[in-house]
Amino acid sequence: MHGFKVDEALCVKCGECARVCAVAAIGPGDDGVPVHLPAREGFCIACQQCLAVCPTGALTVCGVDPKGCVDFSQMPTLAQTEALFRLRRSVRFFKDEDVPPELLEKIVSVAANAPTGTNSRKLRYTVLEGEALRRFREAVYGKIEELDGKGLLTEKLSHLRRMAKAWRQGRDVIFRNAPHLLLVSSGREAMTPLEDGIISLAAFDLAAQSAGVGTLWLCFVAQIMEAAPDLRLALGIGGERVFCYAMLAGFPDVRFRRGVDRGSMEIHRVDFCK
Ligand SMILES: Cc1cc2nc3c(=O)[nH]c(=O)nc-3n(C[C@H](O)[C@H](O)[C@H](O)COP(=O)(O)O)c2cc1C
Repeated sequence: MHGFKVDEALCVKCGECARVCAVAAIGPGDDGVPVHLPAREGFCIACQQCLAVCPTGALTVCGVDPKGCVDFSQMPTLAQTEALFRLRRSVRFFKDEDVPPELLEKIVSVAANAPTGTNSRKLRYTVLEGEALRRFREAVYGKIEELDGKGLLTEKLSHLRRMAKAWRQGRDVIFRNAPHLLLVSSGREAMTPLEDGIISLAAFDLAAQSAGVGTLWLCFVAQIMEAAPDLRLALGIGGERVFCYAMLAGFPDVRFRRGVDRGSMEIHRVDFCK
């Protein structure tokens, strides 16, 4: 079903592929070479852990050739990862220049490797740019004014009123004149739709920044999308999808010179006793 193939000349019959399989869909065949068990292969979640663990690269699954896979020696060090986390910044000033589609697509393809619950991968990136983004931006600010006019801007959303006012005065404090807006949604049938989308955007954020592309998480757009389902529908994000979150992207028109230090977080070790 998932194209589970073993190169018998390379297989050392160590059983590691069977051991790591989360759904016990792999077992030894008659000669000890692993097979997808007919009664279990329908449970395969296509996680590719069997391919990842094989010591000799004997296993192909989901059409992925082990020879083309990234090697473990390329794992970034903790110091490199720390540098990325310290150096990534919220960008609120963008150059008036599009990120080339190939680069944006490459970053999305990197983020596609982030984990999803049961590996369901039901995510979609809705991308707005150029004239479409300009129209959406106008619609969002108009929607804020519409909700306000009807008395529907709750206390929790009252900051949006100031933002719409600033827009009418020529300041775009929500979209920051960024060239690209990404809206992530997930198929409602996924086990963890909201979590998947936010984890994916976190991956997109870091991948983009490592490629010199600035990003900004957008809670204000997320709030509007929640308050105005008609805006979501106009973007093709209907009831069968869960809207997860929004992010801006573009080349930064600000140069940060150093990373930040936010200290650590509370770690609470509990001596659990019933
Ligand atoms: C979930 C989330 C939503 C955010 N929404 C916005 C937003 O709508 N507008 C904005 O200017 N910044 C937004 N931010 C950026 C935060 O203010 C920023 O991450 C924080 O101040 C730390 O700065 P840094 O990202 O440069 O480290 C958001 C951040 C997160 C994580």
